Amino acid sequence: MIDLTKNLAAVTRRTKASVIRELLKLTNKPEIISFAGGLPDPHAFPVEAVTEICAKVLRESAHEALQYGETEGCSRLKVEIIKTLCEEEGLSVKPENLLITTASQQSLDLVGRVFIDPDDPIIVELPSYLGALQVFKSYGGAMMGVRSDDLGMRTDDLESKLKKLKSDEEHYKFIYVVPDFQNPAGVTLTQERREDLVRLATQYDVMVIEDSPYRQVRFEGTAPSMLQKLDPSGNVMSLFTFSKVFAPGFRLGYIVGHEALIRKMTILKQSMDLCSSAFAQLVAAEFMRGGYYAAHVKKVVDIYRTKKDCMLEALARYMPEGVTWTRPEGGLFLWLRLPEKMDADALFPEAIKENVAYVIGSAFHCDGTGHNTMRLNFSYSTEEKIDEGIRRLANVFKKNWQA
Ligand SMILES: Cc1ncc(COP(=O)(O)O)c(C=O)c1O
Repeated sequence: MIDLTKNLAAVTRRTKASVIRELLKLTNKPEIISFAGGLPDPHAFPVEAVTEICAKVLRESAHEALQYGETEGCSRLKVEIIKTLCEEEGLSVKPENLLITTASQQSLDLVGRVFIDPDDPIIVELPSYLGALQVFKSYGGAMMGVRSDDLGMRTDDLESKLKKLKSDEEHYKFIYVVPDFQNPAGVTLTQERREDLVRLATQYDVMVIEDSPYRQVRFEGTAPSMLQKLDPSGNVMSLFTFSKVFAPGFRLGYIVGHEALIRKMTILKQSMDLCSSAFAQLVAAEFMRGGYYAAHVKKVVDIYRTKKDCMLEALARYMPEGVTWTRPEGGLFLWLRLPEKMDADALFPEAIKENVAYVIGSAFHCDGTGHNTMRLNFSYSTEEKIDEGIRRLANVFKKNWQA
């Protein structure tokens, strides 16, 4: 065996295992109630519709479905996506502004490849999506965290960070933000802050990467504008995925952005996988064209709203005073805060002993803070298990209480 310390490429040496993927291995036991993963409810998968559509696609378009496709993506799917973006978001998107990807994790990798040189400062939220931090670090990006609160990324903190980077003549590249029902905190960036963010991005000449897998999973309230809509100049790239409202097993997503950047990403994608699955794309296109998608989003929203309410009720019932949490208007997660003196990392093994799991909040903080926080997923477990899991978690906190 070769000496791996000498022969591995820098990008491989920099890429660390995802804390979530490692933790999930511990939480796989059937007796554990897991609030750790970001998994959709498997009982909500549209099995019947997908069965019918797969048969139809094979009957009518097998030669296209089982063949290699264009790297840019299949035009039938693009047509449906463009129509939806126009109707739901008021966006005017042309096929050359759109790249179909093998889900958003690949889109994030493409973002990393296109923009990051080692040591480039990359602006992210505190906390931010772990899978993005992992990619950006693997390309050598130097994470710079901007504080956020219950209204999303704090644009006052963003402005001071940008000012500092500019005065230091740093080569900062992009701001990465999850504006809708954020993973991990479940918070949504307000309209006012969206406008501020886009204004600051123009003023400081920096790209914005808007990663929005949960936007359609809205339980209540009205949606603020997409950042893409607020800045049609091409400074915003938006990432979408079919994972959360269709099925992650399809591994399909898409990027909307300026034609020149989409072209660059298409060339890079050629070397990654040639194209995303043509079969999956044709099934997704038919799922959208036949009206199944809109009906399915409605179903999923109803299911997750009920589960979110169930988790909020259980938290109110069992948690000791001093524990606080966010109240998401949509998405799959909420965020829990313990008193400052408590350490969610240290409590994790205790929770596992009690057969309940969460993701430690510090993993989402690029600056190592957030030790007293954790992410809880409410989409995966049944209502019964949500209630029981929150009761167990509250007991762990009470046993180890430090105010
Ligand atoms: C914010 C965010 N971006 C990207 C992804 C990746 O999703 P996928 O690759 O399944 O599209 C996730 C998954 O949880 C996510 O929460």
